[in-house]
Amino acid sequence: MTTTLITGIGSLVTNDPAHGTGPLGLLTDAAVVLEDDRIAWVGAADRAPAADTVHDAAGRAALPGFVDSHAHLVFAGDRTAEFNARMSGRSYSAGGIRTTVAATRAASDAELDAGVARLVREALRQGTTTVECKSGYGLTVEDEARALRIAARHTPETTYLGAHVVAPEYADDPAGYVDLVTGPMLDACAPHARWVDVFCERGAFDGDQARAVLAAGVRRGLVPRVHANQLGHGPGVQLAVELGAASADHCTHLDDADVAALAASDTVATLLPGAEFSTRARYPDARRLLDAGATVALSTDCNPGSSFTSSMPFCIAVAVREMGMTPDEAVHAATAGGARALRRTDVGAVTPGARADLVLLDAPSHVHLAYRPGVPLVSAVWRGGVLHG
Ligand code: NIG
Ligand code: FE
Repeated sequence: MTTTLITGIGSLVTNDPAHGTGPLGLLTDAAVVLEDDRIAWVGAADRAPAADTVHDAAGRAALPGFVDSHAHLVFAGDRTAEFNARMSGRSYSAGGIRTTVAATRAASDAELDAGVARLVREALRQGTTTVECKSGYGLTVEDEARALRIAARHTPETTYLGAHVVAPEYADDPAGYVDLVTGPMLDACAPHARWVDVFCERGAFDGDQARAVLAAGVRRGLVPRVHANQLGHGPGVQLAVELGAASADHCTHLDDADVAALAASDTVATLLPGAEFSTRARYPDARRLLDAGATVALSTDCNPGSSFTSSMPFCIAVAVREMGMTPDEAVHAATAGGARALRRTDVGAVTPGARADLVLLDAPSHVHLAYRPGVPLVSAVWRGGVLHG
């Protein structure tokens, strides 16, 4: 057993109201003791127990590691040209996904694995200690199963997204593709996945198709989450709530009934501001969801088409500037919110028994994540008790 005392923390977000003030459970002049891969003690620095090694935070702020509950990291290729065209006025359509599908199918396992490793490292440097990872750029039985096998080497939060768009081979037979996704493809993928997801959107899958995909996944023991109401209003959010999905993701185009349904449910509204930033679309209204009582998470949606960022600090800054969130709410959504969206109780909080995931900022307060946008403030990250940076 090894213990590490991190002391001299000027301001600590615990996300546990038992430890400090407000929903963030904010503590000043705090210390944390890590014991192997777990948090063993949290409290006032002047009452901290001794430990094998001592790390002086010198008044810096600390917070739980970010929980990025929505990312598409298994892909090859590049869509710079598509981004450039959008920034010249072209609008986003789900069609670009097929460009990445072709490049991903052509890539070797080693190339795909290296790509995921690079993005997970890049995210870790920015404070992300838990990341979800979807398939969805293979769209054949073999390529989807391969994506999930590769994703599972990097995270237990693997999501089967065979229903990302209809595979090009089935362009004239979408019903046949849904049969594949709910049949042989699911058989091959379920052993490597924890979650099942579907892109419920005009141009991808309609409400009935999405329901069939999610129901088939549930029958195989997967838990549903849904890409819902991103590009326009549709049935995705209501379907997510009805099926008890862990999360409805995007939630950009909501009517009052959608907001009320989310607020009355355990389904988290996961907002992905990187997607609106990179598609020059209108942002989701986090304020409306929070005021109604919904649980909100913030995630990157890291993918090569609609949101090629792995940065949770970037998402926090945009959510504060554009989506009506306070800095406290955005930090909470990027940590505890993500944990809720992944139904995890061991991450997203700095409290005894939780995994030893902690971010130290080169700043006196977590508010600086929004106050100093674009500045690399993450100075050290512990993931499972291991120090990076
Ligand atoms: O979450 N919405 C569907 N999937 C991704 C976009 C993927 C892509 O454009 O390659 C998203 O935004
Ligand atoms: Fe996505």
